[in-house]
Amino acid sequence: MKVDVLLGLQWGDEGKGKIVDVVTPDYDIIARFQGGPNAGHTLIFDGQKQVLHTIPSGIFRQNTMNVIGNGVVIDPVTLRAEIEALEAKGVQVEKNLIISRKAHLILPTHRILDKYSEELKGHKKIGSTLKGIGPTYMDKTGRNGIRMGDTRLSNFKERYETLVEKHRGILGDYEYNDLLKEMESKWFEALEFLSKIELIDSEQYLNDALNSGKKILAEGAQGTLLDIDFGTYPYVTSSNTVTAGTCTGLGIAPNKIGEVIGIFKAYCTRVGSGPFPTELNDEVGESLRKIGFEYGATTGRDRRCGWIDLPALKYAVMINGATNLSMMKADVLDTFDEILVCTHYEIDGVKHDYLPYDIDAVTIKPIYKALPGWKKDLTSIKSLDEAPKAFLDYIAYLEKELNTPIGIVSVGPDRDQTIIRN
Ligand code: GDP
Ligand code: IMO
Ligand code: MG
Repeated sequence: MKVDVLLGLQWGDEGKGKIVDVVTPDYDIIARFQGGPNAGHTLIFDGQKQVLHTIPSGIFRQNTMNVIGNGVVIDPVTLRAEIEALEAKGVQVEKNLIISRKAHLILPTHRILDKYSEELKGHKKIGSTLKGIGPTYMDKTGRNGIRMGDTRLSNFKERYETLVEKHRGILGDYEYNDLLKEMESKWFEALEFLSKIELIDSEQYLNDALNSGKKILAEGAQGTLLDIDFGTYPYVTSSNTVTAGTCTGLGIAPNKIGEVIGIFKAYCTRVGSGPFPTELNDEVGESLRKIGFEYGATTGRDRRCGWIDLPALKYAVMINGATNLSMMKADVLDTFDEILVCTHYEIDGVKHDYLPYDIDAVTIKPIYKALPGWKKDLTSIKSLDEAPKAFLDYIAYLEKELNTPIGIVSVGPDRDQTIIRN
């Protein structure tokens, strides 16, 4: 067996949570491989909305095991809140959730450092979710981090104090002591609460599962253009959000990767700072935000909106080796007379069809092709046989340009508003 991967091809919030939830019945295990509580994955079914931050989106299906892999960073406080909210709804979390011993911990001081770092950056701030992601991955690669497994060692408190001492050195005179005291007590209580969740060597568990014929889906967080190596650096997150991140974030060998499902919106959004060539700072962008309800699932911030960007998407398909695509939120475009697609960038009068290295420094003029809108409500269609021709033409055009089939078309936020083609 091989591990299938599902990840975002844009700047996050493509609808990963929804599609993982939809396809979970086909899998035995759903495994998150990177990111942490900066993610917000929304699931809507039976008239209820759920937002998950650290827990994989397979948690609502009884017979699926959910793994938080070694590549994920965990804030015990957020994870506890997530588990309690699920338990209050009758979801059996304890039975269906396991965590890698090697996943790193977000300490209260990591969150304070995140805020401090953004303040120092001034107008160049990244627009971080301030969940402590960057500082935690820095301590991981700096070989100072604390892992979930360490919490059950006798010298855990000592390790904790050593790392906090290092953070105190960086924070200097920055005001944080009262805040830290309050955060620390909640943090330790949350760790105590989490002692009921099993910690495992997840790389072994997952490879054993594969060898015994189990089906695994790896769930990405963020999106390709937020990848630490391939995204719009430095306006990115601190992990590898691309397919390769599955190998390091779960311990899956490259030759064990199966299908790679890349998710994209029929238009484009970004939350936080950084370049966004097709951004619309006009009433069209405002309409996309309103109709698409484009407000952050984690921070509530307005998401920036714009037209679909083919050079960026082609790049994302290439980097991930996407074998199949899911197109999300097509219904948001239902009322538009025409739909613009960015086919190229113009930089200093020269046409480019890929993302430039210095994307932040150059002025990019997006070159658009206009396609006719379908002007029909898609939200209740159950198959593409009911779809208008202009919509089918839009799908066919994107499939041809991206050279990859679109196997899933999503026409509304609910689990049921999903058309599976293959
Ligand atoms: P994720 O981070 O990739 O899981 O995506 P988010 O949950 O942050 O953002 C996606 C948003 O779009 C959520 O509010 C979803 O409920 C919503 N959504 C997902 N698919 C569709 C769709 O096809 N149509 C509409 N209108 N909304 C959708
Ligand atoms: P999901 O999984 C959209 C953005 C932040 C900021 C940058 C760095 O829901 O798609 P960080 O907190 O990682 O230091 O923030 O990345 N960002 C996201 N944008 N969706 C996400 O996750 C994101 N996670 C981080 O807004 O610009
Ligand atoms: Mg999200």
